[in-house]
Amino acid sequence: KKKVILDCDPGHDDAFAIMLVAQHLDVLGITTIGGNCSLENVTRNAIHVLEAIGKADAIGVYPGHSCPMVAPLVTAPNFHGETGLDGPIFPEATHVASTMHGVDFIVDTVMNTDDVTLIATGPLTNIAAAINREPQVAERVKEICIMGGSVTFGNWTPAAEFNIYVDPEAASRVFNSGAHIKMTGINVTRQCCIGLEHVEQFRKIGTHAAVLAAELTDFFIEQDIKAGEPPIACMHDACAAAWIIEPSLIVSAPMHIDVELHGSLTRGMTVCDYRHLRGVDPKVEIERQAQMSLRGSAANADGALELDFKRFMDLLYSTLAAYN
Ligand code: BDR
Ligand code: CA
Repeated sequence: KKKVILDCDPGHDDAFAIMLVAQHLDVLGITTIGGNCSLENVTRNAIHVLEAIGKADAIGVYPGHSCPMVAPLVTAPNFHGETGLDGPIFPEATHVASTMHGVDFIVDTVMNTDDVTLIATGPLTNIAAAINREPQVAERVKEICIMGGSVTFGNWTPAAEFNIYVDPEAASRVFNSGAHIKMTGINVTRQCCIGLEHVEQFRKIGTHAAVLAAELTDFFIEQDIKAGEPPIACMHDACAAAWIIEPSLIVSAPMHIDVELHGSLTRGMTVCDYRHLRGVDPKVEIERQAQMSLRGSAANADGALELDFKRFMDLLYSTLAAYN
């Protein structure tokens, strides 16, 4: 099994990422980051999810930073509710978070374990802090798979996706660290839309995890309806987890990605240089074509372009059924 650390801010879609990684990967630990909600809440939410799926004894939770490197924290109660994980009613937690700081956990683990993949589904503050503390983290890590940014449009602003918008300075540090990055941006996670028919299927599956998935999705869909959006919930963070579990679910292309820090309209935008892909079918010989016509800066990332949503759902259903 691939060794991973999941850095997250649960968050409904982060909870889906937890359910996926805990079933399929060797999760060395979960680190939490203030983002969708306060650090205290997202840490408690991570523990709730792990307890609900019976993984709280096996996987430790390490709280990281409570706010971004430079900017004040922005949270997303309009999507995730006041607790950060509104909807399901969880019993009082019986597990507690580790007293070790999340950044210490990332540095220690990566420096002492080969081939660790970091999956980041919140603002990138902890990962940037780990790289600042020990720059060799960027070389030692196998790759960093990020849910954040976009090859096209944003969601929090026209240009910026939420996770990058919250801490652009941290994101810039990570994209420029030399580590191999996979960017699962909003352009592709918007293809991961869970609707009422999928929720019905979760309820049919009926395991604790599947019922939790149904309750989380119900709330997430309600928020979208309130915002005037169609009755579907995009499980952004689950896509980053799925990419590591089953790489063939996502079509991507190598490209150079950097983060805009100063634009009055574009702060937090991931500026993706994919000029070499103009007119190219991403599914056709992408590596060769990209190499042939790459111009500008050398690629530092694989940018996700397409998701096989049907096969993603098959993975999700079988994952939820496997929890009992
Ligand atoms: C990202 O923002 C958060 O609200 C979600 O958990 C996800 O990580 C999507 O833009
Ligand atoms: Ca998240």
